[in-house]
Amino acid sequence: MKLFLDTADIQEVREIKAWGVLGGVTTNPSLCARVGRDPIQVVKEILAEVEGPVSVEAVSLETEAIVEEARYLASLAPNVVVKIPVTPEGLAATSRLASEGVKVNMTLCFSVNQALLAAEAGATYVSPFLGRLDDVGWEGMGLLRDVVAVLRTQGYGTMVIAASLRHPLHVAEAARAGADVATMPFEVFQKLVRHPLTDLGVKRFLEDWEELHRSLGRKL
Ligand code: G3P
Repeated sequence: MKLFLDTADIQEVREIKAWGVLGGVTTNPSLCARVGRDPIQVVKEILAEVEGPVSVEAVSLETEAIVEEARYLASLAPNVVVKIPVTPEGLAATSRLASEGVKVNMTLCFSVNQALLAAEAGATYVSPFLGRLDDVGWEGMGLLRDVVAVLRTQGYGTMVIAASLRHPLHVAEAARAGADVATMPFEVFQKLVRHPLTDLGVKRFLEDWEELHRSLGRKL
């Protein structure tokens, strides 16, 4: 499973990239608003840092306008993936864009049938939003499992991005469910690596190492 960062913050991108585990980036209009800078400039900066897929959302609502906007976004770099919500207009735009070779990530997916439609339209990725379903008392992980199972059973090549992840358990469960990608906020990425026993173990090893050198009468 690839690990993507869900952000429009270039500093966060640089930090996780430095770990050597950054598979790609997903952005959305709300994440861009949080950063508060020209979104196209921000996207260009991210594209300059990231080799993997970078999802950038089209905000148009009508089919023709979505197609035009997506073509522009896709022209920014070969690794741009255009995020398009699963709506009738979004599906129409996606099937046209897919036939032109534009990669689409169908977003705001909350049901198996929406995922099925996205796959049928030729989307490269579909993003079930787990956390937002959990927020309203539905089981987001159940949706992810169903989407993965249905797309595999039916033989679609569309990859599944576990999105709207809130905590490390979501990430481990998404991997177990067979998601192709998990995209998560910076804070969740940081929590993946932290374990108190790792920190304690490092501290103890260092103390023992120092003690050994003291007993041998050597400097470290
Ligand atoms: O990639 C999906 C994500 O951007 C939505 O996350 O946390 O706003 O539900 P969230």
